[in-house]
Amino acid sequence: MTTTVRVGIAGTGSAVPERVMTNDDFAKIVDTSDEWIVQRTGIRERRYVAEGQNTSHLATEAAERALADAGVDASDLDLILIGTLTADYLMPSVACLVQDRLGAKNAGAFDVQSACTGFLSALATAEAFVASGKARRVLAVGAETLSRFVDFTDRTSCILFGDAAGAVIVAPWEECRQGELLASELGSDGSGYDFIHIPMGGASIPHNHPDYDPAEHFIKLKGRDVYRFAVTKMTEMIQAVTANIDQDDVALLVPHQVNKRIIDASLERLGWSHERCVVNIDRYGNTSAASVPLALDEALAAGRIKSGDLIVLVAFGAGLTWGANLIRW
Ligand SMILES: CC(C)(COP(=O)(O)OP(=O)(O)OC[C@H]1O[C@@H](n2cnc3c(N)ncnc32)[C@H](O)[C@@H]1OP(=O)(O)O)[C@@H](O)C(=O)NCCC(=O)NCCS
Repeated sequence: MTTTVRVGIAGTGSAVPERVMTNDDFAKIVDTSDEWIVQRTGIRERRYVAEGQNTSHLATEAAERALADAGVDASDLDLILIGTLTADYLMPSVACLVQDRLGAKNAGAFDVQSACTGFLSALATAEAFVASGKARRVLAVGAETLSRFVDFTDRTSCILFGDAAGAVIVAPWEECRQGELLASELGSDGSGYDFIHIPMGGASIPHNHPDYDPAEHFIKLKGRDVYRFAVTKMTEMIQAVTANIDQDDVALLVPHQVNKRIIDASLERLGWSHERCVVNIDRYGNTSAASVPLALDEALAAGRIKSGDLIVLVAFGAGLTWGANLIRW
């Protein structure tokens, strides 16, 4: 894409629900232990929404924080994009619910579905709108309530996921003078659609189909296949967005929090130190589309990203999908 307008990130925000679900809580439900989960995934706890609290609520909270951080009024938003696989409804979109709650009366709104890559897809779309001059201020969010789609009888998958949201305001760089989007990559391979999927509840096997089984209305994954795919793609994507710079100049990597071992294996392949990488999977688990913007917001709040730093965002997930960004803060 030929960029006509330089594009930046004017502000960030995030939101997590209050309820903490620990590994010991899982040990009461399935045959597992804190030791196994920590060793194999790095997860110690994750957050779950309360009854009546949905993806749109977390997304709105994160968006309000990002708007405040950017000093942008909701009425100045031209577009709202929500990356999510756990929308409140099959229709309408979460983006429309967020538009209403924010009072963003001048914004178009739609959801972006590319699972764990959802936020990076929303960010790339926001970048394209701002770069082309079709929009000036775009809200891009990753938000999930995965706890609603977890099979609590499957010990391999149920321990992995958590609920959260993260948001950014994308705007012309001259306006915000930070977070310039320098390079981005998006990719997909639908032949791996069943590596991670929710088999039922969609149009192929609706509720009145003879094969409908409520037990298939949960996240199913081929953990080992995903593991191999994730390590390979994470490494490839980082190499792709840093192809025109010296990799040693990257101050911080903000990866999808899929599994601590996957992150470690990629760092090892790249020869990068662990200090150059944000890891918060111990506190939140895998929050899919919310994971990268949540980690980015936390890293900024902790002062781990300074003005002028080069950072890399990277994500991959169901679809299969993947993406990465190189950003100068
Ligand atoms: C799911 C994942 C943590 C499993 O870790 P793993 O090291 O690959 O473990 P395996 O699936 O090989 O299972 C090893 C053993 O642990 C057991 N096990 C699985 N989950 C367990 C749990 N929660 N507690 C205790 N034992 C468990 C298995 O039954 C298996 O036992 P066996 O050897 O007697 O058959 C790992 O593959 C992973 O993170 N994959 C990617 C996750 C993913 O798909 N995320 C979503 C997409 S972004």
